[in-house]
Parts: sequence; C-alpha cells; structure tokens
Amino acid sequence: MVLFTKTALLATLLASVVATDAPTCKPGQKCPTDKPCCSQYGQCGVGAYCLGGCDPISSNSLNSCVPEPVCQSKSYTWNDLNAVQPNTKYLGNASAADWVSSGQPLTSGGNLLLTMAPNTVGTLLASNHLVWYGKISAKLKTSRGQGVVTAFILLSDVKDEIDWEFIGVDLQVGQTNFYSQGVLDYHNEVNASVSDTFNNWHTYEIDWKPDTVTWTIDGNSVRTLKRSDTWNATANRYDYPQTPSRVQLSLWPAGLPTNGEGTIAWAGGVIDWNSEDIKQHGYYYATFGEVDIKCYDPPSGANVQGSNSYVFTDVAATNNTVEITNNPTVLKSFLGTGTNMTAGAVSSASGTAASASAAASDSIPGQNGVSGSGGSAQSNPNFNSTNTGSNSSSTGFSQGGTSTTKSGASSQSERVLQGSLFAVLVAVVVLVAM
Ligand SMILES: *[C@@H]1O[C@H](CO)[C@@H](O)[C@H](O)[C@H]1NC(C)=O
Ligand SMILES: *[C@@H]1O[C@H](CO)[C@@H](O)[C@H](O)[C@H]1NC(C)=O
Ligand SMILES: *[C@@H]1O[C@H](CO)[C@@H](O)[C@H](O)[C@H]1NC(C)=O
Ligand SMILES: *[C@@H]1O[C@H](CO)[C@@H](O)[C@H](O)[C@H]1NC(C)=O
Ligand SMILES: *[C@@H]1O[C@H](CO)[C@@H](O)[C@H](O)[C@H]1NC(C)=O
Ligand SMILES: *[C@@H]1O[C@H](CO)[C@@H](O)[C@H](O)[C@H]1NC(C)=O
Ligand SMILES: *[C@@H]1O[C@H](CO)[C@@H](O)[C@H](O)[C@H]1NC(C)=O
Repeated sequence: MVLFTKTALLATLLASVVATDAPTCKPGQKCPTDKPCCSQYGQCGVGAYCLGGCDPISSNSLNSCVPEPVCQSKSYTWNDLNAVQPNTKYLGNASAADWVSSGQPLTSGGNLLLTMAPNTVGTLLASNHLVWYGKISAKLKTSRGQGVVTAFILLSDVKDEIDWEFIGVDLQVGQTNFYSQGVLDYHNEVNASVSDTFNNWHTYEIDWKPDTVTWTIDGNSVRTLKRSDTWNATANRYDYPQTPSRVQLSLWPAGLPTNGEGTIAWAGGVIDWNSEDIKQHGYYYATFGEVDIKCYDPPSGANVQGSNSYVFTDVAATNNTVEITNNPTVLKSFLGTGTNMTAGAVSSASGTAASASAAASDSIPGQNGVSGSGGSAQSNPNFNSTNTGSNSSSTGFSQGGTSTTKSGASSQSERVLQGSLFAVLVAVVVLVAM
C-alpha cells in the first residue's frame, strides 16, 4: 500500500498514546511486565491485547501472547451474525465465535455489511482461527468514494501480510500487495483490472502456499508471487509471508485528515462525510457475500506437537519458528495474559463489572479514542469506541430502492452496547480529560 504511512500513522498513534498514557511497542521496544502484550496497533495491555494480533516480537516475552487457534476450513454466509463476537466479548474461544469484530457489522439480505458512519473508523472482522497456508476467497462489493478503503487481507501477528485492497475513487482496480514482518517495500503493489467493484459482485481469492501466492479474480489468476523471488540477503531470509495469519475483512477511512499525507493521497483524498451514501444510508458500506477458507496441511517439516494452537518458538518469527501445540487459547477474563490465562477469573456476577472496567483501560486495543488507522502495514483501522455500537441498529438499510431487513443486527448491536457500555463511559472520560 502506501508511502509514508507507517511513520505517519505511528506518529498519530504516539501522539494519542502520550495523551492516554498507554505504553507503546515496536521492534526494539518491548512492553512492560504489567502490560505485557503488544497489540496489532502497537500499544501495550492485557486481555484482548494478548489475543489475535498480539505481536510476540514486541511483547514482554515470547509467551505473553495467548496461543492462536489453528486453521479451520469453513464457508461463511451471513444470514445472521452468530459467528461474530465483538472484541469487547471475545476471550479466545474460536469454537464459540469464528470472527471477532470492531465497529458495526450488519447483515442485509444474507450478506454482511461493513459500515462506516460519519467520524467513525469503520468496521473490521478478523477470523479467530488463523490460516497457515490456505485458499481464501471472498465474494464482495466494495464501498466507494475518496478516502474510503475496502480490504480483504491476511495479516499475521508479526505482520506478514497478503492483501486485496480497494480504493473508493478507482472502482476499476483491485490492488494486490504483500509485506514481510511489516517492512515497507514500495515495489510490492500490483494493480489488477476489474469491472465496477462497487456495483458488481466479484470473487477475489488469495491462494497462499509455502512457495507461491496467487491472487485471482472470478477464477482468473491476475498475479503470482514466488517465494524464491523474495530473498533478502541483508536479513538472510525470504521476505515472504510465512506465518499464521488472520483473515481480515474491513472498511476503513484512509482519508482522515489526521492520517499521513501519503495515506490520504493513496486513498484518493480526504473523506467526504456528506456523500451520497452517507445521506442515503447514514454510513459508507462494503458488502460481503460468501467467504470461504480452505486450510492447507501444515508445511512439510513443520514442528507439529499438537492440534489446537500456533505459538512462536523464537522472535525470528520465520516459518520454522512456528509450533503447532495443544496449548489452550481461552482467557478467563480481560485481565488475563499468555502467562496468566486465569487471571481475573471470577465466581460471581461482580466479575462482569471488573472485567468491563479492565477492558476500558487497557485490555481492548483501540478503545481509548486513538484515531487513525494504526497497526501493521497500514491496512488496519483502529477503533474509537465512542463510535462503535451506537445507534446503527435503528438505521434501516436500503439499497437500490429495495428496503432490506437486517436480521441479527439489533441484537448484535445491543450486545455491543451492553458489553462496551462501561468501556465507552471510561473512554469518554479519557477523551474529556485529553
Ligand atoms: C468454547 O465454546 C464452546 C462452544 O460454545 C464450548 O463448548 C466450550 O466449552 C468453550 N471452551 C472454553 C474453554 O470456554
Ligand atoms: C494502482 O492504481 C492506483 C489507482 O487506482 C494508482 O494510484 C497506483 O499508482 C497504481 N499502482 C501501481 C503500482 O500501478
Ligand atoms: C531486507 O530486510 C531488512 C531488515 O528487515 C530491511 O530493512 C530491508 O528493507 C529489506 N530489504 C528489502 C529490499 O526489502
Ligand atoms: C521454511 O522455509 C524454508 C525456505 O526458507 C523451507 O526450506 C523450509 O522447508 C520451510 N519450513 C517450514 C516448516 O515450512
Ligand atoms: C494470575 O493472576 C492472579 C490475579 O488475577 C494472581 O492472583 C495469580 O497469582 C496469578 N498467577 C500467576 C501464576 O501469576
Ligand atoms: C471519537 O468519536 C467521537 C464521536 O464521533 C468524536 O467526537 C471524537 O473526537 C473521536 N475521538 C477521536 C480521538 O477520534
Ligand atoms: C440515534 O438515533 C436517533 C434517532 O434515530 C437520532 O436522533 C440520534 O441523533 C442518533 N444518535 C447518534 C449518536 O447517532
């Protein structure tokens, strides 16, 4: 994706972080022992900071992050959001929820809508089962408008990344890209032509094997990357995506004025919060139909000691440092970490409040009003909790004149509200204090 983004976003992140007093983390700067987990967005905490996206390289120790659930082959359709849990609820049980969400996902006519209301940072769904090589496809219609980015990517905890990204000002292009451990390389992006990504359904696929990545549109291959072409002699390794990754579906505002110039330029300009889609629906939206995840067997020579979870055995975080274990993946509360998964376990109802308050301060990444799209190589939104879960359940979605009902949306939204009420209150207090 984009020039300058990483530094610019990091600066944004740092600015907010100073204000909210959350420790930050990046390669060479590990998290402290009391907030040991380095989130996808480069901030330290406990609880959800230690789940999906937790970066073992910059966390306090290699086992600060919670083991990640192994790959599961499955097809998803969206008559309801039963497979989706908000990040204010998810504690690592991928058997109970295939996806974790931030922002406001809705359903419409059997499809998934990722929404982005004015002044929010959009919506993200991440798969809770990671993929360590596999064939992943998504049938989707992108959002549109300058500054609006729709994404379907694979992102590992150490920021190996394989992307399909769609810029709302150019509906004739799907951008393919990849990163190795979050290192920016301006030459990795390749465009693929496609017809009207907003109005037309297309199926985008990433076929990720140990030796090749192939991107396809509607069954036609548009790009193949070979591992053998990615040798980095300085780093003495292949700059090739090679670690277990979450599938992420997102809609995010690259064109926020607070984002880096390079990011805004890449996204075609600053977002217009008075656009036709906002006037008509109350939000920008991207529509996902069937999403299909097919896991490949672990690569030959993989360190297989179990069948439940992936862990890293070394901060080099290359393919041969991934171990498949039987280690558990579920925290007892938002106070837990990889080294104390039972922390905060409670026997009574008072536990809810305790974990909610913990959640508000430092146990759910992106909850403290950090703006901008932090994270890895820029593809991933941060979430402003004061925006999430608000009101959207009352917004009727209609497209092309046909009014559709969003089954599951209300209850989902209510759950988000209940789950994050305390978090929202505290976040508001923090914002006011700023
Ligand atoms: C995870 O969820 C499944 C399905 O809801 C449940 O059977 C199982 O007991 C849960 N596991 C843990 C460790 O909470
Ligand atoms: C891909 O297309 C976008 C416009 O959609 C353009 O800004 C960008 O420069 C193109 N990238 C490459 C590598 O051609
Ligand atoms: C090779 O790896 C080093 C260390 O990660 C990185 O700084 C450099 O940008 C990489 N080289 C290329 C050409 O990507
Ligand atoms: C890791 O990648 C190397 C190439 O860099 C390959 O030779 C080796 O078989 C791979 N190991 C695993 C476990 O995937
Ligand atoms: C885990 O955390 C709890 C506090 O919630 C503490 O009482 C317990 O001693 C910790 N266990 C370990 C092994 O650190
Ligand atoms: C979070 O969202 C609220 C409501 O839209 C807004 O007033 C506030 O400025 C946002 N905070 C940040 C840090 O973006
Ligand atoms: C919530 O919806 C009500 C009516 O539908 C509207 O008056 C109010 O402004 C909305 N609040 C927010 C925060 O969008």
